[in-house]
Amino acid sequence: MSEPKKLFLDLHPDSEAVQEAVEAGLSRSPKQLPPKLFYDKRGSELFDQICTLEEYYPTRTESAILEDNIDEITERCGSSVLLIEYGSGSSNKTQFLLHSLPKVEAYIPIDISKGHLLEAQQRLEHLFPDLNVLPVCADYAQHIKLGLNRSPETHTVAFFPGSTIGNFEPEHALGFLERIHETIGIGGSLLIGVDLVKDIRILERAYNDSMGVTAAFNLNMIHHINTRLGTNINASGFCHRALYNSIENRIEMYLDATLDHQFSIGDTAYHIPRGESILTEYSHKYTLPAFEKMAERAGFRVDQVWTDRDNLFSLQFLTAH
Ligand SMILES: C[S@@+](CC[C@H](N)C(=O)[O-])C[C@H]1O[C@@H](n2cnc3c(N)ncnc32)[C@H](O)[C@@H]1O
Repeated sequence: MSEPKKLFLDLHPDSEAVQEAVEAGLSRSPKQLPPKLFYDKRGSELFDQICTLEEYYPTRTESAILEDNIDEITERCGSSVLLIEYGSGSSNKTQFLLHSLPKVEAYIPIDISKGHLLEAQQRLEHLFPDLNVLPVCADYAQHIKLGLNRSPETHTVAFFPGSTIGNFEPEHALGFLERIHETIGIGGSLLIGVDLVKDIRILERAYNDSMGVTAAFNLNMIHHINTRLGTNINASGFCHRALYNSIENRIEMYLDATLDHQFSIGDTAYHIPRGESILTEYSHKYTLPAFEKMAERAGFRVDQVWTDRDNLFSLQFLTAH
């Protein structure tokens, strides 16, 4: 493969932004670090491994929904599409769309994990030599000005798979949908993967795999912080815990301190006593009516919903009005 090209837009958060996020999270009570901190190169690779695990039903279920319904999805997208993907990762699911859509004016993958994004770009350019790939490395929770020039006959379609929307607490998920609405404009569409409320045993298995890949992914947040901030937090003094909170309909993932931790970030000293937990991720699960209500509040109409036979996961086509 040739050298990856440059990014279309490089807004990769610098160490100062990472430090601010870590300091803000560690001064909360209880402590909470944002899931974006999972994703350096190793974090993205671990996530890709999670996607292949037997226990982790979301990836294979969503991919099968996409594949089984690709003709209807393609028809909804229309004859000429500008495709913007949030949290694109390896862009694996996107390939179903890229193979099927008659014309893609440009594909704009947005992701915080820079090296992984560039590798995905290189792979896609190899697979789809005529495709215009314009990668944006950014924190999608920030306002990103894409400065798009769209021809009037082009349909702007945002793609947000993986149920990554579930990482936001519901009021922030609403705000995020509103920002997507603003980016794609009235008439634009959003193809979004939304994980559904289900049997707690299926959920807890998915986030506590037997090979310990999810545990390594969770702990990688500490390694990532150490690399970015030059800290020396002892990752082996934490252990992974994930549980389903059936009142809030969400998986909660924690790093539990198994030792006393003392470290400094800048001029601030931190103490995390043994037994204290840091919340690292929420993964909210929705019912179809609850998600529809939120989408409508954000200014979307739900045009079509596809699910699997067991109603584990949904893929939804929304249009901004
Ligand atoms: C759960 S993975 C989903 C990956 C892929 N879309 C899929 O469906 O398999 C979340 C993706 O979003 C990216 N991501 C997480 N937080 C982000 C943020 N705040 N800004 C931009 N990208 C983010 C991660 O790097 C990762 O690639």
